[in-house]
Amino acid sequence: MLRPRLLFLLALLQVFHATAISGSSCRCLYGDPCWPSQSKFDKLSAQVSQPLLFPTPAAQACYTSPDSAECTEAVAQWGNGNWRANHTGAMQSPNFETFTFSNGTIEGCYLNTTLGLPCGRGSVSVIAVDARSVSDVQAAVNFAAVYNLRLAIKNTGHDYLGRSDGRGSFMLWTHNMKNITVHPSFTPAGAPTNESYEYAITLEAGVQWHEAYSAANDAGRVLVGGASGGGSVGAAGGWIQGGGHSALSASFGLGVDNVLEISVVTSNGSYLVTNAYQHPDLFWALRGGGGGTYAVATSVTYRTRPSFPVIGAFLSASINTSSLTPNAALSAAFTELVRITPQLTDQGWGGYSMFKPSNSSVSFVIRYVVPDSSPESAAQANATMSAYLTHVQELAANATQAGDSTVVQSAYTASFASWWDWYVPLFSTGESVGFNVELGSWLLPRDVVESDHEHVAETLVNIPAISWYLVCGGAASNVSADAAGINPAWRKAVVHVVGATTWSDGATLEEINAAREILKSDTAKMRALAPESGAYYNEASPYEPNPAQAFFGSHYNKLRAIKAVYDPINLFVVTEGVGSDEWDDSLTCRK
Ligand SMILES: Cc1cc2nc3c(=O)[nH]c(=O)nc-3n(C[C@H](O)[C@H](O)[C@H](O)COP(=O)(O)OP(=O)(O)OC[C@H]3O[C@@H](n4cnc5c(N)ncnc54)[C@H](O)[C@@H]3O)c2cc1C
Ligand SMILES: *[C@@H]1O[C@H](CO)[C@@H](O)[C@H](O)[C@H]1NC(C)=O
Ligand SMILES: *[C@@H]1O[C@H](CO)[C@@H](O)[C@H](O)[C@H]1NC(C)=O
Ligand SMILES: *[C@@H]1O[C@H](CO)[C@@H](O)[C@H](O)[C@H]1NC(C)=O
Ligand SMILES: *[C@@H]1O[C@H](CO)[C@@H](O)[C@H](O)[C@H]1NC(C)=O
Ligand SMILES: *[C@@H]1O[C@H](CO)[C@@H](O)[C@H](O)[C@H]1NC(C)=O
Ligand SMILES: *[C@@H]1O[C@H](CO)[C@@H](O)[C@H](O)[C@H]1NC(C)=O
Ligand SMILES: *[C@@H]1O[C@H](CO)[C@@H](O)[C@H](O)[C@H]1NC(C)=O
Ligand SMILES: *[C@@H]1O[C@H](CO)[C@@H](O)[C@H](O)[C@H]1NC(C)=O
Ligand SMILES: *[C@@H]1O[C@H](CO)[C@@H](O)[C@H](O)[C@H]1NC(C)=O
Ligand SMILES: *[C@@H]1O[C@H](CO)[C@@H](O)[C@H](O)[C@H]1NC(C)=O
Ligand SMILES: *[C@@H]1O[C@H](CO)[C@@H](O)[C@H](O)[C@H]1NC(C)=O
Repeated sequence: MLRPRLLFLLALLQVFHATAISGSSCRCLYGDPCWPSQSKFDKLSAQVSQPLLFPTPAAQACYTSPDSAECTEAVAQWGNGNWRANHTGAMQSPNFETFTFSNGTIEGCYLNTTLGLPCGRGSVSVIAVDARSVSDVQAAVNFAAVYNLRLAIKNTGHDYLGRSDGRGSFMLWTHNMKNITVHPSFTPAGAPTNESYEYAITLEAGVQWHEAYSAANDAGRVLVGGASGGGSVGAAGGWIQGGGHSALSASFGLGVDNVLEISVVTSNGSYLVTNAYQHPDLFWALRGGGGGTYAVATSVTYRTRPSFPVIGAFLSASINTSSLTPNAALSAAFTELVRITPQLTDQGWGGYSMFKPSNSSVSFVIRYVVPDSSPESAAQANATMSAYLTHVQELAANATQAGDSTVVQSAYTASFASWWDWYVPLFSTGESVGFNVELGSWLLPRDVVESDHEHVAETLVNIPAISWYLVCGGAASNVSADAAGINPAWRKAVVHVVGATTWSDGATLEEINAAREILKSDTAKMRALAPESGAYYNEASPYEPNPAQAFFGSHYNKLRAIKAVYDPINLFVVTEGVGSDEWDDSLTCRK
């Protein structure tokens, strides 16, 4: 007797669900009359495993109780990515905690209290579900759908487009979904039983790279993953859904090339296990089509490799200069790096290089790695790199003779027993976040780099603070462009070039916009090198003139169609994501 009644109620709920979503063309935000009442939140609270949370900006304690231990801790830990990830309301870059009104006033909560500005909530979400399980995720998704809320999925808050929060939004916080399972043998659901992978690893949505790497290393395995001070980037959230680049990508492909299975909750609350055999279309879209767009990932299973020895390459060179751009010697060193980049990525070299202007000097830094897989390939890779490092030292020595002050602090290659041994000293600690930043980036294809490396170098070296990331080419270019939803531009690229702009807390919109104009014009110069290429959605300019094309290329329409199947109610909408062009700039109302 109960069953038909239950079904009727469920049907009624579905109808209500549909009306709630389609009845209004705008999301219901905090402060609107439609915002759910306390009793509705109480009901939600009873359905989930943890108390609801009320996120606050990272610096709030310094306003409410300046002498508190919380404020002291905020000051001390401000640049620590893991501290920020631990805080529900904190974004890695505090500018994404702020909100700019149409009249130009910026509401935020600055660490610098002497600015005399009030602490405002800005874009920080109002209330959050601290998800610990699939059923917590389902409860949060259903609640957001029924009440037509603007849903923010936040994992670590590393996002550079502000996709992990939103003014007046309801947050699903995945950070505490930390389970890690190492499978001695893994067969994807629905796969033939003879398809199996040794030591695949399943990470719940909140696992961060430092935790994933450590678990893999304990099992004698290596993962293709990201790098940041303290390993704070999420290993199973936005990183993988945007593509996921790694210092090992030239050897083993991008993050999306190393996933076996992704489990999700879709906007109707269903739990689905997606892989090459089940819901392959959604699995395809989740591999590079953008976080926060199709469903909530609850866990990701990666393949791993047995541990291997590596060669690391290190360069630190600098000049004292009042100019933000390198001098002739460092420019020549960069030009040569551009020239040999296709060769380096063919050999499997990957990692990070950058020109960092700081106060009165510019430094040129390289941190690369290559697997030492066979004596011949290692010798070849080392020969190319060692010749390059020798060349840089010679350039510096010649410049010094000519009265210049280029100093090479270090330039060497070294063997390491494992990838882990290379990684730990460089990335296991380190403050790398906590400042206002926006990026501009572009993927440079092999043919462009090969055909005119001098023009590429000359264009980029005049942009202050340029990063030259060897996180593609090689094995990443061996994968068919349509194998995963990721932007096809990745498959032709040999390098991901990134520029950035920063500003101080309390800067006016006018001042910030002036900095943005420089970034926009620098990004335009990068884009002009290869207009047919594209940019990495996870580390890109918020001002791409044609974001759909730049971030998703020829995959856009297919991604949009897959989203329509799995998220027909458009619950998942994020800045410049697939389908978000159908919404206004604040992502609140449909156009
Ligand atoms: C210091 C630093 C270092 C970085 N290093 C690298 C690097 O080495 N390689 C690289 O490729 N990128 C790197 N990035 C970029 C990084 O990939 C993006 O910032 C990415 O969005 C981070 O994902 P997250 O889950 O950690 O962060 P969040 O900001 O919490 O999430 C990012 C986006 O994904 C969505 N999302 C998060 N979790 C889920 C989920 N479970 N289901 C559905 N949607 C979800 C969010 O809604 C948001 O849209 C770095 C960024 C920073 C700030
Ligand atoms: C983040 O939280 C975890 C779990 O509580 C804790 O172990 C860790 O020390 C915290 N990290 C920082 C930097 O605060
Ligand atoms: C701008 O708008 C906000 C929100 O409406 C308001 O609080 C603020 O006072 C306004 N600022 C100015 C300078 O008018
Ligand atoms: C804080 O703001 C004050 C007032 O603008 C400024 O003088 C000071 O340099 C700032 N402090 C820091 C650490 O940025
Ligand atoms: C975590 O994973 C282990 C091993 O697969 C499993 O036994 C356990 O139930 C999981 N815990 C949660 C909270 O999912
Ligand atoms: C699994 O078995 C099928 C049918 O016997 C065979 O065609 C396929 O090649 C096998 N695959 C692997 C990975 O061994
Ligand atoms: C730059 O100046 C500092 C301080 O004078 C000095 O210690 C350093 O060696 C100089 N570096 C170079 C590259 O000349
Ligand atoms: C930066 O340069 C200014 C002016 O030359 C100097 O006063 C200041 O101490 C420098 N700051 C650092 C961190 O080197
Ligand atoms: C350094 O100077 C010597 C002598 O002029 C020259 O032969 C050599 O090519 C120069 N090296 C580089 C890397 O420019
Ligand atoms: C790489 O080659 C250089 C030059 O031959 C040599 O000095 C160095 O020891 C080699 N490094 C490694 C890690 O093999
Ligand atoms: C890429 O594919 C080519 C041709 O199959 C192969 O020779 C090469 O080893 C592959 N490169 C990597 C890094 O996998
Ligand atoms: C929910 O969505 C999934 C994926 O599109 C679909 O397979 C399932 O039938 C839907 N469930 C309901 C109850 O509509």
